[in-house]
Amino acid sequence: MVEAVPIRVPLADPVADNRSLAQDLTLAAAGVLATGPYILGPSVRAFEQAFAHWLGGYDAVGTASGTDALVLALLGAGVGPGDEVIAPAHTAGPTVAAIRIIGALPVLVDIDPATFCLGPDQVAAALGPRVKAVVAVHLYGRPAPIVALADLCQRHRLALIEDCAQAAGATVDGRRVGSFGTAGCFSFYPTKNLGGVGDGGCVVSTDAEFLERVRSLRTYGWSRPQYAEYAGGRCSRLDELQAAMLAVKLPLLDAWNDRRRSVAERYLEAFHRLPLRLPESGAGERSVYHLFVVRSDRRDALEQFLREHGIGSGRHYPWPIHHQPGLAAGARIPQPLTVTEQISREILSLPLYYAITDDQVETVISIVGRFFDS
Ligand SMILES: Cc1ncc(COP(=O)(O)O)c(C=O)c1O
Repeated sequence: MVEAVPIRVPLADPVADNRSLAQDLTLAAAGVLATGPYILGPSVRAFEQAFAHWLGGYDAVGTASGTDALVLALLGAGVGPGDEVIAPAHTAGPTVAAIRIIGALPVLVDIDPATFCLGPDQVAAALGPRVKAVVAVHLYGRPAPIVALADLCQRHRLALIEDCAQAAGATVDGRRVGSFGTAGCFSFYPTKNLGGVGDGGCVVSTDAEFLERVRSLRTYGWSRPQYAEYAGGRCSRLDELQAAMLAVKLPLLDAWNDRRRSVAERYLEAFHRLPLRLPESGAGERSVYHLFVVRSDRRDALEQFLREHGIGSGRHYPWPIHHQPGLAAGARIPQPLTVTEQISREILSLPLYYAITDDQVETVISIVGRFFDS
């Protein structure tokens, strides 16, 4: 039997991230337990307002997950069955699952090799009469070219939904992503830059009427109690416990993102002589390095070497969307997905999280270096 190698540095470690806050998080949870109400009480509302203020948006609506934030934002923007929504073929599955959940059809387009995100040229080439919206994903924490995408969507009267699940705090010319489009959708999955102790998400927008629809849609489509005004309503609320704990963490998010950036800078400095393609940043952009993704044509061997030395790594994502039958059926694919195909064979995510220690970072650097020396 092959003995499992003990993990020295995991890919992510939300328990370690939360350790220094354990007392405050416990108190926040105990407060909810003691006072209630347990659904849509004061903690959710306070967190929504704090998050919207932090983002520079008008308001926010807390949802049960990041996937549901996308679902509700698409529905709130008037996208429905049979409409087309442009999305990247290289993204987390839930970006496209959300489009399918509401009966809309994805139009899958290639990514820009520099940003790993949708580019305006790819979107422009995919437009058609049934397209109602574009979902731009700020992948790995790096902003998509959102100013150009917003301009294109405005000219073509399309809703622009920003999938900010991986990019809470990323900025373009000092402005946070999630504030450029019709709506910004966030996930508070535990490993995200702002992570809960369970699932959660939210939709942010400056459009009060749109947010009112989203608010109704997360509670059965009700515009008043027991009166369903909007079709497609569901039960998808951020819960009080998560909201109370997220409110403890939100004031720390910018500092936590700074720590991620300084780890990323150390990796960039240490790896720049190795035969690896490293993440880049564009002018005016600040990534929050949700993931630190390198590219190598020896990816599989590097992955195995890291595993054998107790270093966690990940493939984000191993299967492009158009290779997953549960997501791809009926999708329109207007152009070859060349970049998506190529990078899915080369990408590897290295350990990066708020609480990673300097020693752990140096361990990762030394083991990656040994792989290329050998
Ligand atoms: C880019 C992206 N979009 C959407 C989601 C969905 O978020 P959640 O897991 O909270 O539903 C995720 C998280 O996995 C993600 O990384």
